[in-house]
Amino acid sequence: MEDSANSGLLATAKQIHNETALLVQQLQLVSIEEPSAEPNCATALWETHNSSIKAASNRIVALSRSLAQTIDGPKRYLWEFVGGAHYTTASLATILEFSVLEKIPLDGEAHVSHLAQACGLGEDKLLRLLRMIACDKVVYETRDSYFRHSSISAVLVTDKYTRALMEMQLGEASRASTHLAETLKENPGDNRSGFCAFKSAWGEVPFQWYANHPERARRFALAMEGTTRGNIFSRSAPADLLTLTYWHLGLGWSLDLIHRWFEANEICDNDLVIDVGGGSGHVCVSLAKAFPTPSFIVQDLVDTMYQANLQGLPEALQKRFRFQRHDFLEPQPLSDASRVKVYLLRMVLWNWADDIAVKILQTFVPVMKQFPGISLLINDGIHCRPGILEPHVEKEIRQLDMAMMVMNNAKVREEHQWRELLTKASPNFELVRTEVEPSVAETVALMEVRWIDRTLQGAAQEDF
Ligand SMILES: C[S@@+](CC[C@H](N)C(=O)[O-])C[C@H]1O[C@@H](n2cnc3c(N)ncnc32)[C@H](O)[C@@H]1O
Repeated sequence: MEDSANSGLLATAKQIHNETALLVQQLQLVSIEEPSAEPNCATALWETHNSSIKAASNRIVALSRSLAQTIDGPKRYLWEFVGGAHYTTASLATILEFSVLEKIPLDGEAHVSHLAQACGLGEDKLLRLLRMIACDKVVYETRDSYFRHSSISAVLVTDKYTRALMEMQLGEASRASTHLAETLKENPGDNRSGFCAFKSAWGEVPFQWYANHPERARRFALAMEGTTRGNIFSRSAPADLLTLTYWHLGLGWSLDLIHRWFEANEICDNDLVIDVGGGSGHVCVSLAKAFPTPSFIVQDLVDTMYQANLQGLPEALQKRFRFQRHDFLEPQPLSDASRVKVYLLRMVLWNWADDIAVKILQTFVPVMKQFPGISLLINDGIHCRPGILEPHVEKEIRQLDMAMMVMNNAKVREEHQWRELLTKASPNFELVRTEVEPSVAETVALMEVRWIDRTLQGAAQEDF
């Protein structure tokens, strides 16, 4: 029998023990309650920005997963990873679609017959669905056929942003993913827009499809907004400097980089900020609350989310806002351009394949050529380098990259790819600054682009 002192399994288990002891100590130091799976658990661990706590948590998760994978072996692992995964997610999708979780009291339990009647589902079917997700502790079966919430199901009921994101993933994104291999067989390396699995699955590219499905568009916008509010993605954000966190599964960007840019630059009374593809306008609302002088225009194709978002804001704040219906594939209007300090392109370009991303950037050429003092701020993804993060954290970011491939034939770009894109759009675009989230992962950047007239530079050099 192998000497237990040489056991690789025990070595990993000891590491998990040591890391967990360290984590518990750190939690006690900052008076953070230990996490549990109970629906009323409100530990600050899941939202903390403390980098050493985050690092310890990530190491524990990485080690535990690695231990479980080794013990399970390849076949069981493959069944869990591939063979059974879609049945599990199909169970959850059905439960959400039939609004089952809402019928379970947050502080009690419900019998399956009551739930089946309330939701219009066959009792036997519902019991099997609930027992399926109970295996992943999404709900608990407390006694025969009675179910209660866990922290996971409670979030799906109480947090509309998380709910919207999960429903969108289980719905349109999931079906689109199953079309990826076929799409790539037809167009193995095409980086142009339109050649995406989403179109193959749903007949239209996402933004056309969402325009024709307003309910789904609202859900999508809610999901995107939630990721910014840090409602969902918090586990892997390791930096104390962030007020909001970014990645948990791949999204969840804080607005810190944008706020810091505004703090570092002089903003005058008359300055105008234009948020291109600004959706609900939540970024501008956050800026308006922090910076009292500039005015804002939120540009988008539809104003549904914008109207909903601005309702309820104080009148003084509302007065500083205007919505402008504008297609970001058309040149920027020149009417207000003399007042523009900043064009903001946030979470827009990563949605687009290179050909369209170049076209979007080119819409700023006339206005920035005429007013070279304008800054174009691109707040978008930047790929992390492989192997720096714990595998499960890197996986979350790679899942985001895959989401871009599936949905739009787009991608999370590396910094050199951003530079290439800008140069393709115009040789006069200069990337003057790239700030990344000050974390272990360079995954979100704020890039400041200015107009530098190279013909003038060339002429000046020749003169010299
Ligand atoms: C991923 S969302 C980002 C929203 C916002 N910038 C944010 O940071 O939350 C992309 C936005 O681009 C908008 N959009 C898509 N196609 C557009 C177009 N052709 N012209 C203007 N906006 C568009 C969508 O309606 C959506 O609001």
